Amino acid sequence: MDNLELFYKPLSDSRAGSGGRLIVVSNRVPVPTAAGVPAAGGLAVALQSALRSRGGVWFGWSGKTSQDIDSAPQLRTLGPITFAVSDLTRRDIAEFYHGFANRTLWPICHYRLDLAGHSEGDAAGYFRVNEFFARRLVKMLRADDIIWIHDYHFIPMASFLRQLGVQNRIGYFHHIPWPSPDTAAAMPSYDRLLRAFGSYDVVGFQTTPDVDNFRACLTEAGAGRVVEGDWCESGGRKFKVGAFPISIDAEAFALEARLAERNVLVKRMRASLEGRPMLIGVDRLDYTKGIKHRIEAFAACLERFPNIAKARATMLQITPKSRSEIPEYARIQNEVAEEVGHINGKLGDIDWTPLRYINKTMSQAALAGLYRLARVGLVTPLRDGMNLVAKEYVAAQAPDDPGVLVLSQYAGAAQELQSALIVNPYDIGATAAAIAQGIEMPLEERRDRWRDNMAALRANSIDHWTANCLKAIGGESEAAETESSMHPAGSVIRSGVIARSEPWLAACRSG
Ligand code: F6P
Repeated sequence: MDNLELFYKPLSDSRAGSGGRLIVVSNRVPVPTAAGVPAAGGLAVALQSALRSRGGVWFGWSGKTSQDIDSAPQLRTLGPITFAVSDLTRRDIAEFYHGFANRTLWPICHYRLDLAGHSEGDAAGYFRVNEFFARRLVKMLRADDIIWIHDYHFIPMASFLRQLGVQNRIGYFHHIPWPSPDTAAAMPSYDRLLRAFGSYDVVGFQTTPDVDNFRACLTEAGAGRVVEGDWCESGGRKFKVGAFPISIDAEAFALEARLAERNVLVKRMRASLEGRPMLIGVDRLDYTKGIKHRIEAFAACLERFPNIAKARATMLQITPKSRSEIPEYARIQNEVAEEVGHINGKLGDIDWTPLRYINKTMSQAALAGLYRLARVGLVTPLRDGMNLVAKEYVAAQAPDDPGVLVLSQYAGAAQELQSALIVNPYDIGATAAAIAQGIEMPLEERRDRWRDNMAALRANSIDHWTANCLKAIGGESEAAETESSMHPAGSVIRSGVIARSEPWLAACRSG
C-alpha cells in the first residue's frame, strides 16, 4: 500500500458498499496527484474523513480550462473515495466563476453592492454551468446516495438535478454570509435563485442572522414561506433551514501549534523579532477581509500609543493573492501594497519595519506556529461568513501565556468567540485602541478570555459540524422528530438542524 492509499484507507466504521454513499459537490476539489495529497484546510479534511467513512464521490471543477468538455469527468479513485472532476471552457470560467459567482454573488453576499456586476451573459453562464454539472453528476448517482452541495457557485444545482428526475436527499451549505432582503434583492435572477433553494431537503448557513436573513428574503420576495420551526416551503416542496457554524479540530490544531515551536520558519521569525511584540493577520487578498482598514488601524495604534511604538510592535500580514483576473481584486492588491509602503516609509526606521507584508501561502504547520508566536491575532473582515483564521488563532495559543484575538463584529466567528476584543473594523480609532489593549493586556485577563474562547471551540468542533449536517441531510433528524412527536411525554429527540433554541449554540459567544 503506498502513502496515498494509506491516506485514503476506509475508516474502521466504513459503510462503503452498504449503500448510502456521500456525494460531495464543490467548485474546488482537492484531487490527489502523483506528487501527493494537496494541502488541505480543515473543511477538506473533514469532508475527506466523512467520505472515507461512508464511501463516496467528491465532484466538481478540475481547476483547468479545455475546449473539449464533452468527455466524461476525469476519475481518480483512492480507497473508498472517487474524485470526479470536469474541465470548463474559457467562456464558462469567465461567466460562471469569475463572472456571476465572484463578481456578482460574492460582493452582494458580502454587502458590496458598489462592486457587483450585473451581466446577463454571466447570469446565463452561471445557470448553464450548473446544468452542465448536474447532467454529469446524474449519470454517477445511485438511488440511496446522499448529495451535499457546497457554496454559492452551485445554488441552482439541485433544481437541475430534480428536473432530471433525481429524488435523492440533497443538502446545501452556504459558506459565505447571506445578506438582508434589501441587499439580497440586488442579485440578478433573484427570484429564480431563491426558488432554487426549494429543491433541497436541507439548506445550511453559518449563523442564525444568516438564517433569519434568508427566511426574510424568501417571504418578502414571495418566493416561498416559513412553515413552522426550521421548515420553509417553496414551489410546493418543504425544506429545512438551519445554522450550522463551521469550525476546526481545535485539539489537533493546538497540538500542531505546540509542535511548530520547533518549525524552522517560526524560529526565524522569533529570532528576527528580537523581543518585539508581534501581531498577525492571515487572509486571502480579498476586499472583504478589511486588510487596508486593518493596517491603517495598526499605523494609528503606533501613532497614538507611544508605548506601542516604543516597543516597536511588528505586524506580520500573510496575504496570498487571489482571483487576480477580477478587476476589483487587482485594484485591492495595488491599494494594499501602496498603503504598506506608505506606512513603513512614514513610521519605520533603519532597524524596524513595522509591517511585514507577504503575498505567499504558508504551510499549516508554519501558520500554527506563527499564530502561537503572535501576541495579537487580527481578524477584522468587513464581512465574513465564519472566518476560520479566528478559530485557528485561538486554538494555537499557549494556555499559560495566550495571545489576544481582535475580531470583527462582522465575522461569523464573532457569534461564538465573544471573549475576543470585538471591534467595528470600519472604526479605525477604536480598532487601534483594541490593538493597543491586546498588546498590553495583563496575563490573567488574557488567560480568562482565551479559556472562554477555547471552551466555545471545544463545544463545536468540525466533527460536530459534519455530523450535524449529515444527520440533517440524511433525514435522521426528521425521523427523530416524528419519533418524538409519537412519544410526546418521553424524551425529546433533538433535531440535527441547529435551531435557534439549540443550547450548545446559545452557549457559544458570537462570526
Ligand atoms: O469562502 C468561500 C470560498 O469559496 C472558499 O470555499 C474558498 O476556500 C475560497 O473562497 C477561495 O476561493 P476560490 O476558489 O475562488 O479561490
